[in-house]
Amino acid sequence: MRLDKFLCDTLGVTRKEAHQILRSKQVIVDGAMEKRAASHVTEESVVEWQGNQLKLSGPRYIMLYKPEGFVCSHEDGTNPTAFELIDEIKMDRLHFAGRLDVDTTGLVLITDDGQWSHRITSPKHKCEKTYRVWLDEPVEEDYVEKFKQGIQLKSEDGLTLPAHLDVRAEKEVLLTIHEGKYHQVKRMFAALGNRVEALHREKIGEIEMDESLELGEYRYLTEEEVNSIWK
Ligand code: URA
Repeated sequence: MRLDKFLCDTLGVTRKEAHQILRSKQVIVDGAMEKRAASHVTEESVVEWQGNQLKLSGPRYIMLYKPEGFVCSHEDGTNPTAFELIDEIKMDRLHFAGRLDVDTTGLVLITDDGQWSHRITSPKHKCEKTYRVWLDEPVEEDYVEKFKQGIQLKSEDGLTLPAHLDVRAEKEVLLTIHEGKYHQVKRMFAALGNRVEALHREKIGEIEMDESLELGEYRYLTEEEVNSIWK
């Protein structure tokens, strides 16, 4: 396939726009800059543009550094959706592998692979999620044990699964949970009489928020990151 056609198909741009992209000398094929529209690429070629690998077909796996003020849904009458930060073709095929509240920041995974996202969100698989939490009131001495034992949330049957609390400062903790109930972190602290002032997701399973991303930026996951979810 010609390189300009490949760019049209993967980026959803016109032939003219593909030529402009090539002239900007930002297209890398198998490690070397390529600007010839007629150069040949195959399924095995590694084509990169602006640091992202372009793929003709197959599932897509993206990490987004979600800012405050964006909702994790395709549409919302009030707030902008986090999808507005993603500039990809075939957007309707993508979904969030676990949502964050509108005021929560941090790691959001986006994919068109339903089995992969099920592995992250299904309570059966107990995929770990780690949050940095800033609290209104100081952490109390018994919090670590209480999170370990499980917490009774309002209007829920039974306790939450054992969670790990790592106290980082008087009012700051890292909390690792293995489930994803509605507003779970905020409700866990509310059940102890405290209040979450700010919440940031740092990690899902073994996938950590890439600190080189700015708020609102995204990148494709590496093969290792994608596969880590199946471990
Ligand atoms: N728990 C919450 O309360 N909010 C989030 O956004 C994620 C986990």
